[in-house]
Amino acid sequence: MKIRMTAIATAALCLGLAAAAVAQDNPVAKREQMMKQVGASMGALGAIAKGEKPYDAEAVKAALTAISTDMKAFPDQFPEGSEVNSAAAPAIWDNMDDFKAKSLKLGSDADTILAAMPADQAGVAEAMKTLGANCGTCHQTYRLKR
Ligand code: HEC
Repeated sequence: MKIRMTAIATAALCLGLAAAAVAQDNPVAKREQMMKQVGASMGALGAIAKGEKPYDAEAVKAALTAISTDMKAFPDQFPEGSEVNSAAAPAIWDNMDDFKAKSLKLGSDADTILAAMPADQAGVAEAMKTLGANCGTCHQTYRLKR
């Protein structure tokens, strides 16, 4: 009996190690990292829009570039079966085209704003409205509340 328990414990340990190895190249970790960066970029823009931080063209550019880059790569982080242990709704895999379109829409909104480049606090506030509308539209359908 004791030997058997040890075998089970060893097997469990091996599974644990395998899971840790997978996490290195884990699409869930990658996409959550991307969303965190998008969130942080919106936070940086929000601080300028609210006047908590002075307008800074470089910071605005960096935030918009990060949002654009992340959202273009975001839909590639949803391979079949990767809904486990994440807040990604199963609806994503049923509507992959729409999900991709919504990701790319936020990316292209960021590109459009970047091309025009908000020149002051009011411009950043306006840009926040355009960008921010994308978050809820997608989260409502494709992000599980946890
Ligand atoms: C095309 C869909 C889509 C758009 C657009 C989108 N999100 Fe998300 N977001 C998701 C999904 C799906 C998750 C859950 C990912 C997971 O857990 O695998 C998520 C998760 C998050 C998270 C939690 C990340 C974590 O720590 O796990 C934050 C923060 C976030 N989004 C912020 C934003 C902000 C801010 C915007 C708008 C600027 C935005 N998102 C736009 C789909 C989207």
